[in-house]
Amino acid sequence: MKVHIIGGGNLGVSIALGLSKFSPDSKVTITRRNTASILYLEKLGVTVSTINIHQIQEADIIVLTIKPYQVDTVLAEILPAITNKIIASAVSGLSIENLQNKIGTSNSAVRIMPNIAAQFGASATCIAFNEKDKEKAQDVVALFQSLGTAPIIDEKLMDAATVLAASGTAFALRYIRASMQAGIEIGFDWQTALAISAQTVKGAAEMLLEEKVHPEQLIDRVTTPQGCTIAGLNEMEMHGFSSSLIRGIKTSLKQIKG
Ligand SMILES: NC(=O)c1ccc[n+]([C@@H]2O[C@H](COP(=O)([O-])OP(=O)(O)OC[C@H]3O[C@@H](n4cnc5c(N)ncnc54)[C@H](OP(=O)(O)O)[C@@H]3O)[C@@H](O)[C@H]2O)c1
Repeated sequence: MKVHIIGGGNLGVSIALGLSKFSPDSKVTITRRNTASILYLEKLGVTVSTINIHQIQEADIIVLTIKPYQVDTVLAEILPAITNKIIASAVSGLSIENLQNKIGTSNSAVRIMPNIAAQFGASATCIAFNEKDKEKAQDVVALFQSLGTAPIIDEKLMDAATVLAASGTAFALRYIRASMQAGIEIGFDWQTALAISAQTVKGAAEMLLEEKVHPEQLIDRVTTPQGCTIAGLNEMEMHGFSSSLIRGIKTSLKQIKG
């Protein structure tokens, strides 16, 4: 698979790094205007360029990881050079319909919402496409399955996916930070508290993904009657633990929808 990533910033680089590690047969090109900070990718076999159309005709999938206001400039550069390509766009807020109108009918628009854990093969990449592009989009699905999970969703849930899967990374990290801070208060140095907190979250997530059960079923296994866990959980809930997270996620969604 030849993958051409336009926009070598946070997300573009994490996808390139993930592909170099978890999809070593992929041939990856990544572009941005100032490439100095990403030239190290060349050592991993990734082609780095300042020219957006560099070898673009050979690409099986073109991935857009640029900001919304950069889309028109980039498309003006690449559209004369491509035909019959799949354009997988991670640009938030850019609908399939809008993108399809911009790229014309000879190219296919697929919308993706990865997160920066793609670098570790652990992204939850939501993917949406129109029925007419179902077959072509399977290549995009396969590509992002190599970087984690890649559920196909209805496009109307894409904003919700942005909040849950992309912003969700920050929410999960803030939980880990809080747990780490508490860990320091109860006796650990920050490195040990961080290692314990992060691994505990990873373990909890792996159990959920493996067993495919409701979280409460697993919580029940660690809450002994009259024990320390249920006492802590109840105290957290009294201070709005779940409700503050739910309110935060709903506020993020409102912000996206404008
Ligand atoms: N970060 C995330 O976790 C995440 C998750 C899901 C979706 N997204 C979406 O993905 C997009 C990128 O986000 P990001 O966080 O990766 O942003 P970012 O770090 O700012 O990356 C954007 C990159 O695009 C490059 N760029 C700008 N103009 C360009 C042009 N004309 N040609 C080629 N490259 C150009 C910039 O580099 P130069 O200035 O050097 O050109 C920059 O490195 C956004 O639409 C965002 O909403 C991000």
